[in-house]
Amino acid sequence: MKKIVHLSDLHFGRIDAGLVEPLVEAVNAAEPTLVVVSGDLTQRARSQQFAEARAFLDRLPHPQVVVPGNHDVPLYDVLERFARPLDKYRRHISEEVEPVYEDEEMVVAGVNTARSMTRKFGRVNGRQVERLRERLCKYPDGVLKVVVTHHPFDVPAGTDEREIVGRARMAMEALAACGADLLLAGHMHVSQTGRTAERYRIHGHSALFVQAGTATSTRGRGEANSFNVIRLKHPHIQVERRVWKPEAGEFAGANAETFRHTHEGWERLPEEVAAGITFDEGGTGLQPHIPEE
Ligand SMILES: [Fe+2]
Ligand SMILES: [Fe+2]
Repeated sequence: MKKIVHLSDLHFGRIDAGLVEPLVEAVNAAEPTLVVVSGDLTQRARSQQFAEARAFLDRLPHPQVVVPGNHDVPLYDVLERFARPLDKYRRHISEEVEPVYEDEEMVVAGVNTARSMTRKFGRVNGRQVERLRERLCKYPDGVLKVVVTHHPFDVPAGTDEREIVGRARMAMEALAACGADLLLAGHMHVSQTGRTAERYRIHGHSALFVQAGTATSTRGRGEANSFNVIRLKHPHIQVERRVWKPEAGEFAGANAETFRHTHEGWERLPEEVAAGITFDEGGTGLQPHIPEE
C-alpha cells in the first residue's frame, strides 16, 4: 500500500496561522510514502513567504514532490517577473521545478504550469509534455502514473473554464497514450474528484483527477481548509478528504471515495463495496492492470 498526502495552495503570507501546527501533526501522523504540494506556496512570491514555506516543508515527511503555482511568480516586480520568474522559488524551495518520484508501484512527475505572461492562468507546452512522456511511458501498466500540476485539467461545473491549464487537450492526448492514471492539482481552492473521460473523451482512456482545496490559506472560496490522503492498493485508489474542524482543532476525515481500475479506466465504487476494501494492512497488493481488450 502506498499513501500520498496531497496538499495545495499553502499561500504563506496569507495563512491562518493556527492551522500550521495541526497540519504538520496530521501529515506526519498519516505516515505517507510521498508528500505532494501542488503549488501556490506563497501569497506574493516574497522571500520571507518562501522562507516560511521552506520551514513548513522541512517539518513534513520526505520524499516530496513540490511544484510552483501562479502566486509563486512575482506579480509587481516586472523585471523579476519576466527575467527571473521563479528565482526565489528555486532559491528557497527547490532548484528543480519539475521533480519526479519513482518507486516500484508509482511514478509521480511534477510539471510547472506557472507563467510570467499571465497573472493567474497556467499552461503546459509541447516540450513539457514530451518530457512527461519520457518519464511516464517507460513504465509498465502495473505502475501508477501520476502527474502533478498547479492548474487543473478539469474544474467544477459553472467555473470559468479558462482556469483549466492551457493546452490541456494536447497534454491529455499525449498522456492518455502513456496511460497516465492520476492527475493531482490545486489552484481552485475547491476540492474535486472526477474522471477525465467526462471532459476529454479520449478513446479507451480515463484518468482520475483530484484537486485539493487550500490547506492553510484564508481564502477558501466557501470551503473549509483541507488536504487529501490518497491510498493506493492496486487496482484500487481511495481519495480521502481531511477537513479543518475548528471546534475540534484538527483536520478530520470528511469523506472518502474509492475507485477501481478497469479496462475502461476508473470506476467509482458504491460505498458498501468500498467499505469491504482494506487499504492499511498487508503487503503492497500490486497486480498488473487488467489489459485492454
Ligand atoms: Fe491558490
Ligand atoms: Fe493558483
